[in-house]
Amino acid sequence: MAKVDPKIAAATEALARRNKKGKSSGEIRKYAVYGLGGLVAIFAIYLALTDGSPRKKSGGKGVKENAQVNDRYFISDVTSYAAGNFTAAASPFFNSWSYADVKYGLDGVNLRAEGMIGMPGALQVCGDDDGVAGGAMPPNYDLRTVMPECTTKVYDAGNCSSSYAVAAAGVLSSRFCFDDNEKYKGLQLSPQQIISCDKKSQGCQGGGFDSVWSYISRRGLFPESCVPFAGGKAAACKSDCDQSKKLKSIDSCLMKGGEKEIKREIFNRGPVMAMMFLKDDFLVYSGGVYNPTDNANQQYGAQGEPMMHAVQIIGWGKSEGTACWIVKSSWGKTWGEEGYARVAVGSVIREESVIVPKAATEEAIADAAKKAEKDETRRGELKKERAERDIRIKERERQRAEEKAAQAAAEDDLDFEDEEVDLEESEEGATGEAE
Ligand SMILES: *[C@@H]1O[C@H](CO)[C@@H](O)[C@H](O)[C@H]1NC(C)=O
Ligand SMILES: *[C@@H]1O[C@H](CO)[C@@H](O)[C@H](O)[C@H]1NC(C)=O
Repeated sequence: MAKVDPKIAAATEALARRNKKGKSSGEIRKYAVYGLGGLVAIFAIYLALTDGSPRKKSGGKGVKENAQVNDRYFISDVTSYAAGNFTAAASPFFNSWSYADVKYGLDGVNLRAEGMIGMPGALQVCGDDDGVAGGAMPPNYDLRTVMPECTTKVYDAGNCSSSYAVAAAGVLSSRFCFDDNEKYKGLQLSPQQIISCDKKSQGCQGGGFDSVWSYISRRGLFPESCVPFAGGKAAACKSDCDQSKKLKSIDSCLMKGGEKEIKREIFNRGPVMAMMFLKDDFLVYSGGVYNPTDNANQQYGAQGEPMMHAVQIIGWGKSEGTACWIVKSSWGKTWGEEGYARVAVGSVIREESVIVPKAATEEAIADAAKKAEKDETRRGELKKERAERDIRIKERERQRAEEKAAQAAAEDDLDFEDEEVDLEESEEGATGEAE
């Protein structure tokens, strides 16, 4: 309202001046009415500009940048909107984070990588699954209780947009252990190596949800003990580790299934890597089954793209009738349910595109080599079959040409067969019309 003041002042001054000059009281009343009219007009413009409504608390993208994630009014709003499905609380992880920090510091997964799916170097879509047992899945499954020795630690990514790296290294570690829980018990492969060394990713500025797997399959990962997590501090790419400790992925793929396929995959081979839409109320989630409230705002990254957060799905369950995934985030143990969240099935997780990595254990490498050999043999066989078929075709063509030549010679002598040809043609015509 500060801008209105000079006008009021001017109007008052004008009235005073005219008063001094000895105008009649009628005239003064007239100016007073003009002044009031002016005020009404100014107020109308003010209403038009501000939409006449009080400022929205958790409104559009622009309004919120300076707001704090852990704003207590926002947290109490979320708690009431969630109506008991989940609770909200401030977590130490997001202490002093504004939404601008979220926008520029939490843009974890490169969605543009999606366009690369199926391209050379990126992930192929998973084929038909033959090595996986079918049948009904248990109603609850949690890797932490089924295989605690294969459960990796919860990372605190700090001010480093690295959910893609933490999730990728985490699921691969669990999967090595899942395949051989004697040899790979407690395995913890290094996400920091991806952050510091993978040139296709952008370190603490995020990385490709699928392209990160081409790095892991080519280069492999050292254990955390050799390349420890730097929590957002700059860390040079380290390679003076025991090379024999390096582990790779092999034949990882993008699964275009859904709930049933994801469950079967986790049950039979271990956790999968997934992307979820990042909404503001998830940042203050503190327990229960998360389902975005009607007032939740999708977060957008610096380029205006919807922000995605990479997580590990390690199991599932049901709570008061709501089916949910058990996901592991990278915001420390004090966020959510000790670093984990239960997220409603069919809500924010992109269930139609999850990554199914394969641990390159000695057995998997041998299998892949055997398969490659088999494919090569098959290719050789196909080539031979094609060559034989080509010979057969050529032979048939030659025979047909011979027959045609013989027929032409015969037709020269047998003109009376034309009648039969006419009959055939008219029959064909009738059939054509009926169809
Ligand atoms: C709470 O969860 C139930 C079951 O999933 C759902 O139907 C309901 O809409 C949720 N309520 C809110 C406020 O999100
Ligand atoms: C994260 O780091 C960036 C610069 O690297 C800085 O601008 C931002 O304020 C930091 N955010 C938090 C929450 O510390």
